[in-house]
Amino acid sequence: MRMRVKKWAKPELAACPYYVDLPEEKRGKWRSCFAKEAPFYVELGCGKCVATSRMTLDNRDINYLAVDISRNILGVARRNFEAVYGDEPVDNVTLTHFDIMWIDKYLCEADKVERIYISFCNPWNQRPAHYKRRLTHTRQLLQYRHFLVPGAQIYFKTDDDPLFKASLRYFEEAGFRIIYQTEDLHASGFTPNYVSEHEQFFSDQGIKIKFCIAQMEEMKPDTTNAENEGPET
Ligand SMILES: C[S@@+](CC[C@H](N)C(=O)[O-])C[C@H]1O[C@@H](n2cnc3c(N)ncnc32)[C@H](O)[C@@H]1O
Repeated sequence: MRMRVKKWAKPELAACPYYVDLPEEKRGKWRSCFAKEAPFYVELGCGKCVATSRMTLDNRDINYLAVDISRNILGVARRNFEAVYGDEPVDNVTLTHFDIMWIDKYLCEADKVERIYISFCNPWNQRPAHYKRRLTHTRQLLQYRHFLVPGAQIYFKTDDDPLFKASLRYFEEAGFRIIYQTEDLHASGFTPNYVSEHEQFFSDQGIKIKFCIAQMEEMKPDTTNAENEGPET
């Protein structure tokens, strides 16, 4: 569902000290956006940051980059950070907008990302030709490898069974090992779990939340073909 235009979002983001409007200029320099050097995590498709804002406040010793394609949504995210942080400075978060399909233009090896969060991305289930747009597709994961450090992890949550099943395969194809997996996150006892806006929405409908942690391993030479055009899977 497309969000209604929020006229206040752009000016509020422009005045926000932790919003970056030209992300291509920060390529290789994201770590310098933060008050202090710390582990660096990235959330892809952050939405309104309902969960992220609580997670980042609880973890002031970690720096986070929250990415979304929509400035309207990031405007709402900014307000959520302000509300959750209260009088605390929001100095361990950077917000930015870009299309994750082209993430190589915005992040590179020098950014040394230690963890990625992907929560409730579009499953693109309708047409096989669209599978490549999934944020967990092998082609995407191979791009993420360019800026992840060895042993980095991807935390992936979804409501969608076909996407989850396909993603487990994508992770393997792209040289990631699944180190944790559950088909019912809320019953699993996994902690800490910060419940996002979409997670609450699906959970309220009785849909079980699928979750895994994939750890980047050294790449086997024969799996790199996945970066090329091939059959839609
Ligand atoms: C279903 S929402 C999930 C939001 C949040 N992660 C949650 O769990 O509530 C997906 C988000 O991903 C963003 N998004 C989708 N495709 C994207 C892309 N190619 N690049 C950047 N953001 C994208 C959308 O704008 C939207 O905010």
